[in-house]
Amino acid sequence: MAEPVTEKATVELTIDGKRVRAEQGEKILWAALAEGIAIPHLCAIKEAEPPLGTCRLCLVEVEGQGVVASCVESVREGMVVHTDGERAVALRRRAMELLLADHPLECKDCPKKGKCDFLQLSIAMKVKRPKNYRPFPREELPVDASHPRIIFDPNKCIRCGRCVWVCKERVGEVPFDFIQKGYEMRLTTFMDKPLGESDCTGCGECVEVCPVAALCFKEGG
Ligand code: FES
Repeated sequence: MAEPVTEKATVELTIDGKRVRAEQGEKILWAALAEGIAIPHLCAIKEAEPPLGTCRLCLVEVEGQGVVASCVESVREGMVVHTDGERAVALRRRAMELLLADHPLECKDCPKKGKCDFLQLSIAMKVKRPKNYRPFPREELPVDASHPRIIFDPNKCIRCGRCVWVCKERVGEVPFDFIQKGYEMRLTTFMDKPLGESDCTGCGECVEVCPVAALCFKEGG
């Protein structure tokens, strides 16, 4: 016998003055996007629970609560959200500036040229690398081309965590993870071994979700 269809409970909230209904537990970001209300976002993956919440580009203001990451915060009955609050916008812009300051902007020769989500979002947000920018003192890491299909350039990684999540949760593999903490945190392969020596099957899900060129297909891959 067919299972009875149970309707999910919904809540009503206001986003930028528009009354919106969303499923209970839905994150503000997805509720807003479903209504055509744009909020910048980069690391968010709808199925990720808990959300990754790493890029801080999706900040919004909730009345009575303050600034929250919209991909992390769930909707509530009566909630009033402002996507263009001064503080949230300033913090989003700062988060983008910091990402840009820590990313090699070698876009001319980049394999993701023309399809880089990160660059496109920075243009949409009208944020550039700060004028007084001084490069973070990072050691340049070797590019890993050991895999037959995928090239891993850790220098381009913005530490969003999307590849780690898809490999683990969608594909059931763990070729990547983060090591160290804070400023020192970096994406690496299992045991820091070349990607070609890992269990990576080369399915390419990680390449699809990488918003920069940290993970790319080899030509013809
Ligand atoms: S999209 Fe929300 S923190 Fe990245």
